[in-house]
Amino acid sequence: MKMIVTGGAGFIGSNFVQYEVKNHPEDEIINLDLLTYAGNLESVKPVENAPNYRFVRGDIADREFIFRLFEEEKPDVIVNFAAESHVDRSITDPEIFVRTNVVGTTTLLDACRKYGIKRYHQVSTDEVYGDLPLDRPDLFFTEETPLHTSSPYSSAKASADLFVMAYHRTYGLPVTISRCSNNYGPYHFPEKLIPLVISRALNDEEIPVYGKGENVRDWLYVTDHCSAIDLVVRKGREGEVYNIGGHNERTNLDVVKTILKALNKPESLIKYVTDRPGHDLRYAMDPTKIETELGWKPEYTFDTGIPVTIQWYLDNKEWWEHIVNGEYTKYFDNMYGKRLENA
Ligand code: NAD
Ligand code: DAU
Repeated sequence: MKMIVTGGAGFIGSNFVQYEVKNHPEDEIINLDLLTYAGNLESVKPVENAPNYRFVRGDIADREFIFRLFEEEKPDVIVNFAAESHVDRSITDPEIFVRTNVVGTTTLLDACRKYGIKRYHQVSTDEVYGDLPLDRPDLFFTEETPLHTSSPYSSAKASADLFVMAYHRTYGLPVTISRCSNNYGPYHFPEKLIPLVISRALNDEEIPVYGKGENVRDWLYVTDHCSAIDLVVRKGREGEVYNIGGHNERTNLDVVKTILKALNKPESLIKYVTDRPGHDLRYAMDPTKIETELGWKPEYTFDTGIPVTIQWYLDNKEWWEHIVNGEYTKYFDNMYGKRLENA
């Protein structure tokens, strides 16, 4: 089988490429990535010389390029991770989110229609369901929860999901969608909460916590997401959505304090800053469908995944120091400079 993984130089995509290359030596894996600020070939270094792996640089929203690639490669399966993925960036610059997440997805879908495909898989997110109230711990997102988005990021992801399902119903395209909760683990770009806290705490720098830090996220170790997608792509039913999550809900403040404690750093590093506009309160997934139908089970809990993640950042300082000392310093100043001054 020939599989194109888009966004395979990003956080989850690079973990997935490594997972597929190692677990399916009989398959050919093509990593297609534009290498935006979030893409990094260092993240696929462990497999770069594997005989069943290749990298191609390109833009999923470039129709001419995508159609040419499909004509040449005739792939069997597409797994689409490529996206703009950071909610805060979508608030300051929504347009690129429409281009990459919506136009990029429809371009891939059109190429699949033209050249034929055994499976198109869309990597989606729990954020398409909106948020849950903090005082109703009994509520969870199921696959039937209506789409109800908050940010430009989640709206673009939900739009893409609607197109994927429309191409299934209208043209009979063999598609699946998975919607996962917050991931963490190796190769996570340090603009996101967990790697931001680890990298800044290690440098004894202030940690910005939005609002009161009471928002809740449902954390999943990244390789558990990879094993779930692998199952959906190979065994999931066409036209179906599968929710992925491991019931690891934590408030942001809990997450930050857990990391500071593990690194033996003081809580005085925490600075409460102006909240994210439209900030979703709580995400919590019900993964019953993927567990019962496909037999998926996560390997890690939050308590076992966090120490492994922290150790990875300690062992791979070069990977993240290179990022936080580059262009990222400008991003950080724009996003946090004033908020930290006023904290
Ligand atoms: P990321 O930002 O780390 O990686 C995105 C990758 O896509 C980068 O390598 C980037 O270079 C590439 N890319 C961007 N625009 C492109 C384009 N036009 N053409 C080709 N490649 C392009 O993102 P991530 O956190 O790894 O998320 C991957 C996917 O998983 C996204 O679709 C995201 O919505 C979804 N998701 C993420 C999480 C999470 O917690 N991070 C949870 C659920 C779902
Ligand atoms: O739920 C899945 C989603 O998880 C994915 O679809 C997104 O691509 C991914 O970025 C992530 O979105 P979040 O907005 O939940 O992740 P982030 O790491 O940006 O923030 C996690 C929580 O921490 C959120 O409530 C905001 C808060 N936060 C974040 C940052 C970066 C802070 O308090 N301070 C910060 O500096």
